[in-house]
Amino acid sequence: MLASGTGTVLEALIEAGLPVSVILVDRPCRAGLVAKEAGIALEEVTRDCYGRDFSRSRYTEAVVSRLQAHGIGTVAMAGFGTVLGDAMLAAFPGRVVNTHPSLLPSFKGWHAVKDALEAGVQETGCTVHIATAQVDEGPILARESVPVLPGDTVESLHERIKSVERRLYPAVLGRLISGGEAAVLTGRPQP
Ligand code: GRF
Repeated sequence: MLASGTGTVLEALIEAGLPVSVILVDRPCRAGLVAKEAGIALEEVTRDCYGRDFSRSRYTEAVVSRLQAHGIGTVAMAGFGTVLGDAMLAAFPGRVVNTHPSLLPSFKGWHAVKDALEAGVQETGCTVHIATAQVDEGPILARESVPVLPGDTVESLHERIKSVERRLYPAVLGRLISGGEAAVLTGRPQP
């Protein structure tokens, strides 16, 4: 699991009983505390730079080598704030999964909730998808919508979306790691 934020989606994945071998964070954040409290291995690959000198490829290689040391099969991003380079997808082809707080392909990017609110849409939601080299693209595994309500703020709307993510993401990941990925990708019913 890769995370950078408050780690509430991460907590839901752990509570759902998914076999989490390692949690990797790119900065000091609550997600790191979640790992410690759950007794799960924590890898801190802290970004030393957010400017032009940031080497995405070197950073990605560091992340990949830490993950590979744990012998993992699937990588689940849960609010990870660094876009990773090609080495990640090469190391875990078709096995990097992401949850995004919008109904993709609408509102890609880090400000998806704010962008949806500002666009004045009546509904938004979340999307679980396989990650590709293009940010917030790739085969969609599941989407679920939530209403935008009068008086919503970015926080209230994001919390409504996250309450869905905390249910949907563990369910989809559970199917994926139990070998049902072909069925998930084609939308065929599960046995
Ligand atoms: C989720 O909305 C996820 O889609 C987005 O970051 C949020 C993570 O929330 N990429 P939290 O840090 O787990 O509370």
